Amino acid sequence: MLSVKENMIVEFSTTLLDKFSEVVSRYPEGKQKSALLPILHLVQAEYEWLSVDAMEKVATYLSIEPIEVFEVATFYSMYFLQPHGKYTLEVCRTGPCCLVGAEKIMAHIEDKLGVKEGEVTDDGLFSWRGVECLAACGYGPVLQIGPSYTFYEQLTPESVDQLISDLKEKSKSEA
Ligand code: FES
Repeated sequence: MLSVKENMIVEFSTTLLDKFSEVVSRYPEGKQKSALLPILHLVQAEYEWLSVDAMEKVATYLSIEPIEVFEVATFYSMYFLQPHGKYTLEVCRTGPCCLVGAEKIMAHIEDKLGVKEGEVTDDGLFSWRGVECLAACGYGPVLQIGPSYTFYEQLTPESVDQLISDLKEKSKSEA
């Protein structure tokens, strides 16, 4: 469901609009709607997530209806529709991973980080969410770290703790 709890008013910069224009130029005249996915990626790269206002402005830019943008943005889990942590732990919650403990891993992450699905830790470092099959079904439970999409397989509570600890260290070293 499209979240309207958070919104962010955006004003696309000339640089960003130039990038839009370059993407649209790859498609035949009148087929600018085909540029929707890459343009949403550009907007997300600029603002970190896609607010309703940003999606409406993309619709205006592409001369399509806002619902057409919302449908795409809500279908693909690589788009973020609300603010998220620097590291988003995306846990596969499809059947095969659940059979080998994905739900326990999600509960452990919730406890460890102290935030519910979709929320952000106070330090801004972490959020987490369940996603559909990550195509590593034989190696579950599986998670990927968005938005870099590094994979971690055969998770245990201990390996999750280690991963969170490593990410904290990584963030400190980047500061
Ligand atoms: Fe989890 Fe496919 S079911 S990766």
